[in-house]
Amino acid sequence: MAGRRSRAALRLCATVVLLDVAFCKGFVEDLDESFKENRKDDIWLVDFYAPWCGHCKKLEPIWNEVGQEMRSIGSPVKVGKMDATSYSSIASEFGVRGYPTIKLLKGDLAYNYRGPRTKDDIIEFAHRVSGALIRPLPSQQMFEHVRKRHRVFFVYIGGESPLKEKFADAAAELIVYTYFFSAAEDVVPEYVTLKEMPAVLVFKDETYFIYDEYEDGDLSAWINRERFQNYLTVDGFLLYELGDTGKLVAIAVIDEKNTSVEHTRLKSIIQEVARDYRDRFHRDFQFGHMDGNDYINTLLMDELAIPTVVVLNTSNQQYFLLDRQIKDTEDMVQFISSILDGTVEAQGGDSIWQRLKRIVFDAKSTIVLLWNQPVASCCGTSL
Ligand SMILES: *[C@@H]1O[C@H](CO)[C@@H](O)[C@H](O)[C@H]1NC(C)=O
Repeated sequence: MAGRRSRAALRLCATVVLLDVAFCKGFVEDLDESFKENRKDDIWLVDFYAPWCGHCKKLEPIWNEVGQEMRSIGSPVKVGKMDATSYSSIASEFGVRGYPTIKLLKGDLAYNYRGPRTKDDIIEFAHRVSGALIRPLPSQQMFEHVRKRHRVFFVYIGGESPLKEKFADAAAELIVYTYFFSAAEDVVPEYVTLKEMPAVLVFKDETYFIYDEYEDGDLSAWINRERFQNYLTVDGFLLYELGDTGKLVAIAVIDEKNTSVEHTRLKSIIQEVARDYRDRFHRDFQFGHMDGNDYINTLLMDELAIPTVVVLNTSNQQYFLLDRQIKDTEDMVQFISSILDGTVEAQGGDSIWQRLKRIVFDAKSTIVLLWNQPVASCCGTSL
């Protein structure tokens, strides 16, 4: 019933928009200089925009939908927008440097949103970041529920400890990217074997991994490396995010619509290496595939014939290509090993990540990535 009612509201909104956009905008507060004082007791999700910016105009109908949905589900998060050119000193105090900038402001903390600018992604971010940084898992049922919902999540197991404090610090920093929970030992599934307590675990790829302070170093850095599934469908956003990990990213560049066995075979090879050689490579490598070569061509300023494998080094902006097809899993493992021991020559190095950033945030070619849900008018997409 609730679903039907909100659909009706959306339809009404979409009808109204033809006559007057004011109705939809009513869920987003227009902020001015009083915001700095008035925001203190609330959590705010704010779009800092410039009136002349094209991406800001594209975001506006989506933002109105975000405001409407947050209101209709009774979220404590308030949704606002601020013309950062009119209130530039406040905007710069919040660290706004480009437009649009989406931030969740919670007390002294300001969290930047860097994901795709779609309603669902933005709302998911607001829920995650506005709630408790570390959520307790009181029962096995809750644990199962969380495991089904999230592809990757981190769990602290144990009582008060210095490790728990580090976990809390890491959560405050990395809640924009992933999920943090705490649980007692009897809540974790039986297949989990803990040698030591307290412990921090990541659950992903249908298994779990335990943080080892001695081997893995700083907890935040480990979480930052482990917050991705082992095998990913890579797009521009993800590649940009992977830049923070300093890892090498091995990507099968394929055409998913091409039914020729070459394409599917290459994808399977990479998947197999990701799964079967995790212990050997996961500290240094991230694996995945990318559909189509447009994006990677723009990035590398090259014309890659697909299917092919490219390995990007996110720490020094270099990349590796083979001038022949990868034959099988063994061949791929060989290629990776030769990259690790430095016997294969790298290319690039000319600020690929600058280009990546530019492509993600500015260029027309990635508008599909940024705006992967075409929005005709306010509230129109779900009809
Ligand atoms: C599919 O990929 C193969 C290369 O593996 C290529 O020769 C062929 O032209 C592609 N087909 C289409 C329809 O693009």
